[in-house]
Amino acid sequence: MDPAVASTIDVTASDVLAAQARLRRYLDVTPTHYAERFGTWLKLENLQRTGSYKVRGALNALLAARERGDDRYVITASAGNHAQGMAWAAYRLGIPAITVMPRTAPDTKVAGVAHWGATVRLHGETYDEAKAFAKELAAQNGFRLLSAFDDPDVIAGQGTVGLEIAAAMNPDVVLVPIGGGGLASGVALALKSQGVRIVGAQVEGVDAMCRALKGDRSLVDPCATLADGVRVKEPGYLTERLLRDLLDDVVIVREAELRETLVRLALEEHVIAEGAGALALAAGKRVAGRRKCAVVSGGNVDAGVLARLLSEVRPRPPRKPRRRARERLPQPAATRDPRPAGLLPSRDAAHPRPTAATGTIDRDIPEELLA
Ligand SMILES: Cc1ncc(COP(=O)(O)O)c(C=O)c1O
Repeated sequence: MDPAVASTIDVTASDVLAAQARLRRYLDVTPTHYAERFGTWLKLENLQRTGSYKVRGALNALLAARERGDDRYVITASAGNHAQGMAWAAYRLGIPAITVMPRTAPDTKVAGVAHWGATVRLHGETYDEAKAFAKELAAQNGFRLLSAFDDPDVIAGQGTVGLEIAAAMNPDVVLVPIGGGGLASGVALALKSQGVRIVGAQVEGVDAMCRALKGDRSLVDPCATLADGVRVKEPGYLTERLLRDLLDDVVIVREAELRETLVRLALEEHVIAEGAGALALAAGKRVAGRRKCAVVSGGNVDAGVLARLLSEVRPRPPRKPRRRARERLPQPAATRDPRPAGLLPSRDAAHPRPTAATGTIDRDIPEELLA
């Protein structure tokens, strides 16, 4: 969006509420899940239709355009998830949609768009190159170019994620991944007035919004990253303006931390996230809060990438759980164990018993207990 236009557009919390009313007929509320080992709630947008929150903004934009009587063809550029959301929304409303995606987009995302019947054009190596081409096509053909993030209807639609989080778990801080800034802007609009802190997450070397918020709008090619969904060179102008007012902080995550978080999510929480989907949780360990919620924004990861990560990345063992001072300790295992004494492992030094307090693992388990 042109910076001059962006400065005139108003998006508010009531636009997010209006989006919620529009979307209710089409989309279910996604689950929130407490990830105990991370000490953080997760908003599971990987379980959203098309595997990411993006369908919210795309569908809201199409429905709002219909209300305004705007029946132009819609074209959009996307790293993949916005295109999938757009394709699904257009399919549900029975209208055509054209999407331009970079050639580097994951196969699963390209296949997802084609599955819902949208036209896919692969162009350029990055999201920003695909965007420039979509802009050209829109100008030549009179299509409506719908931004993946810098659009008031898209932002309002993404904000419904925040309303659902507030209804589910009353957070004090919400962590959101940032690419162009649409999700973070919408969630902040939805939650800021309720006193919730909003913290954005970006990847090292893929931090255009963080730099823009510090006044640096220079265009730097983003580094290669597992988080293809947030690999944006030029962040939004409308989103920058909103985030300047509403965002409390941005945490920059290292690529290795992101990979480890993605693998831990899969192995410990049984949640499949894509790179950008694991980003907010990866940032969460640097953020204090009593009721933290991280948005797991998407789960569209290529099978080969996931397989490689699961076989290559060895997460560090988690820290021992801290016990709260006033928490009641469980009864000692010896007085609770209902098994006959003969079956209990001996308690000498050779066979220390695992307890919640020590967290030791007794690999030397007596034969009779394994039978
Ligand atoms: C899974 C996922 N998470 C986060 C983002 C970043 O969203 P935004 O561009 O609204 O900041 C994207 C963008 O495509 C995404 O696909």
